[in-house]
Amino acid sequence: MTSNQLDKKSQAWSALFSEPMSDLVKRYTASVFFDQRLWRADIQGSLAHADMLAAQGIIGSEDFQAIERGMAQIRQEIEAGQFEWQLDLEDVHLNIEARLTQLVGDAGKRLHTGRSRNDQVATDVRLWLRDEIDGLIALLRELQNALVGVAQDHVEVILPGFTHLQVAQPVSFAHHLLAYVEMFARDEERLQDVRRRTNRLPLGSAALAGTTYPLDRERVARSLGMVDETGQAQVCMNSLDGVSDRDFAIEFTAAASLCMVHISRLSEELILWMSQNFGFVRIADRFTTGSSIMPQKKNPDVPELARGKTGRVVGHLMGLITLMKGQPLAYNKDNQEDKEPLFDTVDTLRDTLRIFAEMVGGQLNPVTGKKEGGITVNSQAMEAAAQKGYATATDLADYLAKKGLPFRDAHETVAHAVKAATSHQCDLSELPLAVLQGFHPSIEKDVYECLSLRGSLQARNTLGGTAPAQIRTQIERHLLRLK
Ligand code: ARG
Repeated sequence: MTSNQLDKKSQAWSALFSEPMSDLVKRYTASVFFDQRLWRADIQGSLAHADMLAAQGIIGSEDFQAIERGMAQIRQEIEAGQFEWQLDLEDVHLNIEARLTQLVGDAGKRLHTGRSRNDQVATDVRLWLRDEIDGLIALLRELQNALVGVAQDHVEVILPGFTHLQVAQPVSFAHHLLAYVEMFARDEERLQDVRRRTNRLPLGSAALAGTTYPLDRERVARSLGMVDETGQAQVCMNSLDGVSDRDFAIEFTAAASLCMVHISRLSEELILWMSQNFGFVRIADRFTTGSSIMPQKKNPDVPELARGKTGRVVGHLMGLITLMKGQPLAYNKDNQEDKEPLFDTVDTLRDTLRIFAEMVGGQLNPVTGKKEGGITVNSQAMEAAAQKGYATATDLADYLAKKGLPFRDAHETVAHAVKAATSHQCDLSELPLAVLQGFHPSIEKDVYECLSLRGSLQARNTLGGTAPAQIRTQIERHLLRLK
């Protein structure tokens, strides 16, 4: 298409078309108002392509220089907000190409040699997403660091661990937080893995079948940083697949969904813990809102919204995976619909990770060099809650089993003890020794050690358990990993 023809797209695409598009159809088919955010990747991809065309003698080196010059100006115009995006030019690719041709003439028209918008857009999205993934990984690490930081200060703080949201066994608050660090560490691994499959070059697939020009695809891949750990160029090896594969977008959105699910679980706990009935933690006022009618309220809007936005990201995953299911090879215009869900997934995850890292870990005070305003922990409330609900009943059963009672019998014996404590409205540790011995004669004075919250924690000293010594080992491991 010549620039003249591009300009005239408002009338019709080419001589082949007998009538222009209606405004409605133009709006329906255009993507420029959302895909313009790909502009950096589009220019980057075009320059790598043009450099290779020149190196292969397919265009002249003066053409490449003119393209470089034109692109530099376009970059400036876009950055300064002076670039005129035109709906008539449909998408980011045609807008930039038309402007390039306006600026540098025939050299601009040569840029599209051996290339199609099909391999161009697939390349742009991959380049863009690759860089976004790097930013997201950095934020994920920030959040993990924030959680580890809070964990470090609360190894000895005990709260009730729940199963079925019923008091189960006492655990360290640090241990609880480190469970989320494990989740976010897996999210980080998943993003690294998706990045490998995202960082492959479709360019050179052309429309669908490859091209008649002697392209050096590996050179383009290398100049775009599409290489593996050993420096080997990463190129999509089948042109039909190259232009139509959106697995990387689906995989990314799946990884993002899972990460949001983890954030949503953490949100749910924060919301519970902040309620008056728990009173375990507070988050800084700037993450909460008041009520227009109830003056006493401080609502956890940020965690609630994060929980809500999880639905939106999971929705994008459903959207993308459904987008692909009926598509024959190769490129279909359906694929243009990959962008908004992908963009919104990145935006939502990015903002959520950023806000959570700050909400948990606080903000750096430039004067003191310390982080301030993170989560505030009410250890007394946590411990008081752990005292209720017979959280150490399993410890008593283990105590009896270690004295030789079969565990099932010990379990039953302790159930009787819990029943008795319930009717006396006291904790197991508050039952006098004589009463406890009434349940089993092997019970001695040392039983109170295992009935205490601290004793219960200390006793779980196996790899991955909640004993403070284990937690400190895990904190060391995370600190090393997150350095
Ligand atoms: N805007 C299009 C997209 O996002 C670019 C590719 C268009 N290719 C085509 N043959 N119409 O998918």
